[in-house]
Amino acid sequence: MRKPLVVANWKMNGDFASNEALYAALRAGLDASVSNAVDIAICPPFPYLGHSTAWLTDTPIRLGAQNVAATSNGAFTGEVSASMLADVGCHWVIIGHSERRSMYGETDADVAAKLSLALASQLSVIACVGETLQENEAGQTEAVLARQLDALVSTFAKAPAIMCVVAYEPVWAIGTGRSATPEQAQAVHCFIRAYLAGKGVSQADEIRILYGGSVKPANALSLMSMPDIDGALVGGASLVADDFLSICRASAVA
Ligand code: PGA
Repeated sequence: MRKPLVVANWKMNGDFASNEALYAALRAGLDASVSNAVDIAICPPFPYLGHSTAWLTDTPIRLGAQNVAATSNGAFTGEVSASMLADVGCHWVIIGHSERRSMYGETDADVAAKLSLALASQLSVIACVGETLQENEAGQTEAVLARQLDALVSTFAKAPAIMCVVAYEPVWAIGTGRSATPEQAQAVHCFIRAYLAGKGVSQADEIRILYGGSVKPANALSLMSMPDIDGALVGGASLVADDFLSICRASAVA
């Protein structure tokens, strides 16, 4: 039985006051029936990680980062290492988000390096995969995902399933308001799970596969009800406490 996981990816949004208010609203609105049934994580921008540990004290919500360096500590100006993220209280880290891949040139090799370093620092990983609209329309979805998953499989095969999460985020659904349908997403999640198993990830059945891309309160229940959709990676809707809480509630009952 895979426990659902709902992750807020705040991206580069917010400031000290708005973040504090958002955390307060989440704390006030989260009931135990939801937090017992669903793992919840918040990934704020780097400068707010330290304060976030205080804002999240005595809540079941875990802290995550949106990115991590592909190297360990040293002369890498502007980078943030896995050991630093663990040191400031992160439990999770997102790697390979399509915005990192498309805007900052992150490669599959970078994602593989980040994965190993994160796990070595005891961080649990949310590894993003997903095809562009052009790749989707050209019928290349499975080939693209296979290439992106190949960067993960040898490390996933040796790691505890609980620390390894895949997020399927079709690039055409991110921030566009056009989510994949539950059936489309289910078919891809099923492919991802089978691909992992076929590549020697023996615990593929235990690995959580999240859907991301325009998840909103209105579509969360239908997406989360699919058998291979084990939670959500939420961008825009995670900036509104009521919307994020409603997605968490939908995941709890799905
Ligand atoms: P969105 O973003 O929910 O705003 O589409 C999802 C993501 O990029 O993780």
